[in-house]
Amino acid sequence: MERKGFIFDLDGVIVDTAKYHYLAWKELADQLGINFTEEHNELLKGVSRARSLDILLSVGDVVLSDADKKMYMEQKNSRYLSYVAQMDDSEILPGIKELLTYLHKNNVPFSLGSASKNARVILEGVNLLDAFTAIVDGNDVSKAKPDPEVFLIAADKLQLNPENCIVIEDAAAGIEAAKRAKMISVGIGEEDMLGAADYLLNSTSKLSIAFAKNLLN
Ligand code: BG6
Ligand code: MG
Repeated sequence: MERKGFIFDLDGVIVDTAKYHYLAWKELADQLGINFTEEHNELLKGVSRARSLDILLSVGDVVLSDADKKMYMEQKNSRYLSYVAQMDDSEILPGIKELLTYLHKNNVPFSLGSASKNARVILEGVNLLDAFTAIVDGNDVSKAKPDPEVFLIAADKLQLNPENCIVIEDAAAGIEAAKRAKMISVGIGEEDMLGAADYLLNSTSKLSIAFAKNLLN
């Protein structure tokens, strides 16, 4: 049997950073007079920072120059980083530490596959920077999810065939990227958003060792 491995998304799978993204985008929206809600924030899950800003601006019908967009993205990111700076390992989502420990002990390779350019800072904050066999994040890709690039680079780093990679994702764009990479996909969330996933769990706490073993066999 060929070797298998895991690729984990970061935001919404390893840690719940969506709430900090929301707070930071909300501050910008208020500044620009845009009525931005938590429902709108759902649309930003898994998508790049630049695309997130475009979605936010379209909610308020606001048009900005590229120079202004760059400035506002920097502003948003520094606010986001001020929240992230306060994170510690208590913010790792349920079941994740146990699963990573099991994979590590059993020599199952696993990579990060995240759209975030802040992935390393976040992993360091929650004490997981050294846990991964490989890390692929928003700094390594030229095309954002749903393009499969991030996961294909991760498979390459893990020296695995894409069809032997199991992707754990909480965003529709991420499930689509996994499908396009011909990988096995596990969605964390609800059927309406992640119905395309091969497996669907409503919480990371359901990512049990028994579930992982099953996927590996
Ligand atoms: C994804 C998040 O993981 O990373 C998105 O789900 C976010 O909401 C994207 O926009 C980019 O993150 P960052 O940290 O580079 O702004
Ligand atoms: Mg995510």
